[in-house]
Order: sequence, then structure tokens, then C-alpha cells
Amino acid sequence: MLFKGSHILSIDQFSLRDLQTLFTVSQRMEPYAARQRMTRVLEGAILGNLFFEPSTRSRISFGAAFNRLGGSVRDTTGFQFSSMAKGESLYDTSRVVSGYVDVIVMRHPTIGSVREFAAATRIPVINGGDGAGEHPTQALLDLYTIRKELKRDLNGLRELKIALVGDLKFGRTVHSLIKLLSLLDTVHFTLVAPLELQLPADLVEAAEERGHTVRVTTDLREGISDVEVIYTTRLQQERFTSETEAEKFRGSYSITSAVYNDFCKTGTVLMHPWPRDSRAGAMELHDDLNSNPQLAIFRQADNGIPVRMALFALVLGVEDKVEATARDVSWYVPDSIGVS
Ligand code: CP
Repeated sequence: MLFKGSHILSIDQFSLRDLQTLFTVSQRMEPYAARQRMTRVLEGAILGNLFFEPSTRSRISFGAAFNRLGGSVRDTTGFQFSSMAKGESLYDTSRVVSGYVDVIVMRHPTIGSVREFAAATRIPVINGGDGAGEHPTQALLDLYTIRKELKRDLNGLRELKIALVGDLKFGRTVHSLIKLLSLLDTVHFTLVAPLELQLPADLVEAAEERGHTVRVTTDLREGISDVEVIYTTRLQQERFTSETEAEKFRGSYSITSAVYNDFCKTGTVLMHPWPRDSRAGAMELHDDLNSNPQLAIFRQADNGIPVRMALFALVLGVEDKVEATARDVSWYVPDSIGVS
């Protein structure tokens, strides 16, 4: 893929070579993400961050990544604060906003909406999540995290064993992730979900056609017992026809500290694309795992910054100019971020 000037809409666009390029640049972005260095390479550029569905991580980390490259951000959140609430089309919104900014990130509740939006503009559009469709940048940062956690390069992930757990039907991050992991050599997937919430058949068939193994189970304990990575997801309540429909699945795949200690192999990495549902009765990754060193979810969320910085740098064609405007930061930065 030629990154420069491209829309980033689906994992289908990526090859293994693209991942190597992206992760090499992401690695170079680490000192900027860690607040050791700063750069002004995108000074003057503006990101339009359009979120028509709730978000904490994607909206803030896309914005922060752009800011850390020296660019500015214009946000809009929710239909009610945009002219779509007055009936404006995706086409009109896209044509107009692309006259104001240099690159757009969009999240929208309808599958295919971001592609439709991108078709109306020549500035790059990045899919921040389209309904139950895809969330490509989440999958990219997830794979970046798997590499870091397991301390292996992409070739070293051959024969990876990973369990995808939870709402695999509506969870767009797992849709993107299985496509992305399918670019590797012989991955062993275990899909742990109620039968009603299993991964769409076309995604399973595509993985199998590429030589990967896919095991399906409804039994959490069996599904997580022999894997290196557990990637669990939230029940996507907003995609169900009614709350009672979703309710019958809530909490059925909760991983607690006791479950982890009793059933997982030593060193199994725990991941989640966020947000995890911490309400009583949900707890897909229980709070009692918070001090478990194998809980990678906070490091995973942090990885959103270098990976999204790298994507912006590549899409805007400045990946080799970042250092030219760089210097050490002058403000106070703690030795480590978060709770030690
Ligand atoms: N992972 C993710 O998309 O989180 P947000 O919904 O908070 O953006």
C-alpha cells in the first residue's frame, strides 16, 4: 500500500510489508509518545476528529497523536452537535469538512458509512469504527501490543495461539483483528462465545482459507486454557435490538483472577480493546486482575499513541521529517505513567 494520501478504511488494504513499515515508524514514535521528545513536523496541519458514537480512547488518542506531531485538532462529538441532526448527508458533510482540515478520522454507527464518507473527498479519511464493521487502527495497535508483550517480531508470531472471547458477532475490533492476524503464518484461533454471538462465518472461512486453524467453543475455561494471548471483548449492547436481548449474555464470559489462576498457562497475556464494562454483572475482565502483570490492557491503550502517530506521519508523507524539528521536552514528566 502507498500510505501517503491513502484512506485507511479496512484491514483488507494491508500486507505484511505494510505492517513492517507501520511498526518501524511506530517504534520511532515511542520517545514522542513517552513525552521524552517533541516534534513540530505537522505544525499548521489540522485533523478533523468526527465521532458520531461514544468514544474515550480513539477520539482522545487520535487527537493526542496528531497534537504530539505538532498539528491541531477540531472535534465534533455526537450527531446532536453536528448538522447531520438537521438531515445533512454524509456526502455534504464530507465535502464541506474536507475544505477545512487536512485529514479526517470518523466513527459512525453504520457499517460502510466511513467508506461512503471517504468517497466524497480527496483528503485522507481514517476509519475510527463503523458500526459492527471494522476498527482497523485498533487492530493495528493490538498487533503492535502482541509483538511487544511477547517480545517477538512479526515472523516470530508464527504458530501464535490466541483466544478471542465474548461478543464476536458485533465486536468490530475482533473483525479487524482476525483479518490482520491472518496476514501472519499459521495462527491458531480459539473463538469463545455463545453460539448466537459467534464470529461471522465469512471471517472464519477467510482465516481457514489462509491456512490458520479456527476452533469454536462456548466453554470459557476450555477455550482459554492453552493460549498465549486472551483477547476478550465487551458485550456490544448498542448493537442488539433490545436491552433484554443483550441481558441474557451479560457476564457469561467474565475472567476473574481465580479463573485466570486456575485455567490459564503461566504468562498468558490478557488484552481487551476497551472499554471494559466494569458494572456489576458484566466484568468481562474483572477489576481483581488489575495488579496482574500479565494484564496488558493499559499498555495496549498507551500503544494507540505511537501507532496512530505513525499512521498520520505516513499518510501525510512526513515520516522521514519528524526528527528535523525534534527536541527534548522541557516540562516535568514522571518516570513511569500510571500506578507503579
Ligand atoms: N477501543 C476503543 O475504540 O475505545 P473507545 O470506544 O473508548 O474509543
